[in-house]
Amino acid sequence: MSSVRCLAYSRLLCHLSTSPRVHTSVSSHGIQRRPFSRSSRCRTIMPAWVIDKYGSNDVLRFTRNAAFPIIDYPNEVIVKVFAAGLNPLDVGMRGGYGAATMSMKRDPLNMKQSGSEFPLILGRDVSGVIMECGLDVKYFRERDEVWAAIPPWKQGSLAEFVVLSANEVSHKPKSLSHTEAAAIPYVATTAWSALVNTGGLSKDNCANKRILILGGSGGVGTFAIQMLKAWGAHVTVTCSQNAERFVRELGADHVVDYTAGPVEEPLSELDKFDLILDNVGGDTERWALSLLKPWSGSKYVTLVTPFLQNTDSLGVADGMMQTAATVATKALKHLVKGVHYRWGFFAPSGPALDEIRDMVDAGQIRAVVDETFSFSQVPQAFDKVEKGHARGKTVVEISKGGEDL
Ligand SMILES: NC(=O)c1ccc[n+]([C@@H]2O[C@H](COP(=O)([O-])OP(=O)(O)OC[C@H]3O[C@@H](n4cnc5c(N)ncnc54)[C@H](OP(=O)(O)O)[C@@H]3O)[C@@H](O)[C@H]2O)c1
Repeated sequence: MSSVRCLAYSRLLCHLSTSPRVHTSVSSHGIQRRPFSRSSRCRTIMPAWVIDKYGSNDVLRFTRNAAFPIIDYPNEVIVKVFAAGLNPLDVGMRGGYGAATMSMKRDPLNMKQSGSEFPLILGRDVSGVIMECGLDVKYFRERDEVWAAIPPWKQGSLAEFVVLSANEVSHKPKSLSHTEAAAIPYVATTAWSALVNTGGLSKDNCANKRILILGGSGGVGTFAIQMLKAWGAHVTVTCSQNAERFVRELGADHVVDYTAGPVEEPLSELDKFDLILDNVGGDTERWALSLLKPWSGSKYVTLVTPFLQNTDSLGVADGMMQTAATVATKALKHLVKGVHYRWGFFAPSGPALDEIRDMVDAGQIRAVVDETFSFSQVPQAFDKVEKGHARGKTVVEISKGGEDL
């Protein structure tokens, strides 16, 4: 049983064994009343940064009147946000990237009018404190310090509170501040999903495996380097020359500068690889798969896929068909050459974050924060992420909840 499955199982056992903390009461007639969820605050509004349409930075709007999150399902928790991490995905979503697929996830039966996602709150990383638990939540208690990566179809963390499924949440590393913790969940669960779920790697099978990370100096790459080094792999990284020292400090064994000329030439002189994690895309597929060891179960996993562009431009049904046809054709083309071709996707996972927390607290992974911004500076934080080439994450500190605005 994989360790994440073990953790998920222990979460389930905890759920079954703990006596239910439902709020019940007995009426004057001696009949037990229906359990109910009670909010200690009974608030209906909160401060948040929202967008009311897709566009550039000027669509970001601060409001004190965003809808306070509601627990709709008994396994949900409300988290008070102390810090929110920003990712390139937030900049993309601000401009409408993935809107068709996200709308379908929010409203599968297409009952609502178009634009019903607005006002939309961005921000995929959260570190904070549990304020309220649904009736079925036994693994967390109020005031627990937690972190999570928020699925892109849910309201995000650029707000005072956010509601999440308990399955998406994990106790935060004790060794990190909330600001540091908010730098990790989205990139960590993306790297985990690509390397573990799609790539089949784990701490038990990584020793001496040769891994190539294309684009190792970005958010996902910096986390992937540290995780793979903690598991004993040999890690080669491509990045720009000015990031070489940075990735070496994170543990990279070999670094190739992609700005010095065609990067495939120096890479082809190296021993072949067991797995390639591609964070760059573009024309990398043309040459990268020839760097893998053939007929040995080696895999190429790319995070840069046309899935969301296809559904945005063709609609959800046609976009999905086009995507399935593309990936199947490519997988078959490379399978006959003895290598596996895969697409990786972010997958929210509390149990994966539990494992990542243990690696952080053991000193195997560090948070890499590039710059912090206050809650009043969210547009500047977006600017920073949009410019790119940061060495670490951009984090917005929210704990004051807009009191400073
Ligand atoms: N499929 C999914 O669910 C999913 C989830 C998360 C992310 N992603 C995708 O994964 C990619 C990486 O995400 P991220 O958050 O790590 O992005 P990021 O923080 O913007 O990092 C990208 C890095 O790639 C480097 N780079 C750019 N061109 C390169 C090239 N030709 N060769 C080598 N390195 C190059 C840059 O390094 P330098 O600064 O050194 O130039 C930059 O640091 C993005 O395309 C993102 O859209 C997909």
